[in-house]
Amino acid sequence: MKSLKKILVTGGAGFIGSNFIRHALQTRPEWEIYNLDALTYAGNPNNLADLSPDQNPRHHFFHADIRDGKFLKNLFQKESFEGVFHFAAESHVDRSILEPEAFVETNVLGTFRLLEASLSQWEQTGRPKFKFVHISTDEVYGSLGPVGYFTETTPYDPSSPYSASKAGSDHLAKAYCKTYGLPLVVTNCSNNYGPYQFPEKLIPLMILNIIEKKPLPVYGDGKNIRDWLYVVDHCEALIRVFEDGRNGETYNIGGSAEYENIAVIHLLCELLDKRLQRGPGESSKNLIRMVKDRPGHDRRYAIDAGKIKSELGWAPRHGFEDGISQTIDWYLTHMAWVHAVRSGRYREWIEKNYDKRDQ
Ligand code: NAD
Ligand code: DAU
Repeated sequence: MKSLKKILVTGGAGFIGSNFIRHALQTRPEWEIYNLDALTYAGNPNNLADLSPDQNPRHHFFHADIRDGKFLKNLFQKESFEGVFHFAAESHVDRSILEPEAFVETNVLGTFRLLEASLSQWEQTGRPKFKFVHISTDEVYGSLGPVGYFTETTPYDPSSPYSASKAGSDHLAKAYCKTYGLPLVVTNCSNNYGPYQFPEKLIPLMILNIIEKKPLPVYGDGKNIRDWLYVVDHCEALIRVFEDGRNGETYNIGGSAEYENIAVIHLLCELLDKRLQRGPGESSKNLIRMVKDRPGHDRRYAIDAGKIKSELGWAPRHGFEDGISQTIDWYLTHMAWVHAVRSGRYREWIEKNYDKRDQ
């Protein structure tokens, strides 16, 4: 029997990581996935409830921290991975503004420790076929004006502690490829949405507040633009990059779906009002509240995904309205998951972030 490919996924209990593991187990029967996650507030074992090791013997879970260099070196030595998908990060911009230290610790130091462990495994085992996929964000490029797109050669110009820490980790990752030859690619992706997204981010927060008839807080004038990508399309792009991407390269990934925040919120109100059978007098748009802006708020993100399309033949398969409808339906049918993630710590965060925004 052919042996399975051992793949390490960091941050696999988070939003994109858990969608990725589910997708990879379905589409790559030759992969065995080792999921390493520290289970911070954003990491949730319930995201993987259907993939527990007794239901899926190709999925193993390690409750561990990427900053723990000793643990990583032992794990790499024991398992000898053929690939690493590095998702683990502190990922929320607003949190990085209020509590930046964890971002430097995990995103910079944690990535460094993971690169060190990967390099020592790769060198000690005679430099076999291996690839490290470093998953990053379009936010490293800063903010766009009304026209133009981020390409792979756009200079880095991060605005928040989150994007600055991700930029730092991108530079470290590329340095390990240039200096030591570690086979590695970097991906910079636009805003994801879909099932299992923690309800501190725009789309799940608005869906749940609409369902519960709570205020819908819009930062600034609501005209900031994001380029939305359905999470499964991102997962497919990452597998394409792992299998055929060129070492040392960067690939931008985006949905070509630019919307002002206020337009996204209006769409969510309309789609949910229909599903919840709310009449015209009960329009959820009445819940919209303009609140104090995010400091350093980037105005517009938009990805030119031409390189991954032409080199690797990837394109998103979900249009925004299709993906958003599936996402709304997922939240409506998974309210038990929602109740479980809204711990006391979640409520504390909502108060801390939104109290100071009341205008
Ligand atoms: P998330 O916050 O939902 O999940 C992050 C996961 O990392 C959690 O499971 C958490 O427990 C884990 N983690 C955090 N610190 C850790 C540590 N020190 N050691 C081990 N595990 C740790 O994030 P997400 O939205 O799924 O994003 C995943 C990755 O994709 C991040 O690197 C992020 O920068 C990048 N990204 C996200 C988006 C997006 O729109 N969400 C877009 C582009 C890129
Ligand atoms: O672009 C990729 C990035 O997208 C990822 O790297 C980040 O991990 C991810 O969190 C996301 O960052 P954003 O800051 O764009 O996402 P967020 O959902 O926090 O906000 C989206 C937009 O909505 C942004 O312009 C701020 C605005 N917003 C957000 C919240 C939470 C509001 O107007 N009100 C809100 O309550």
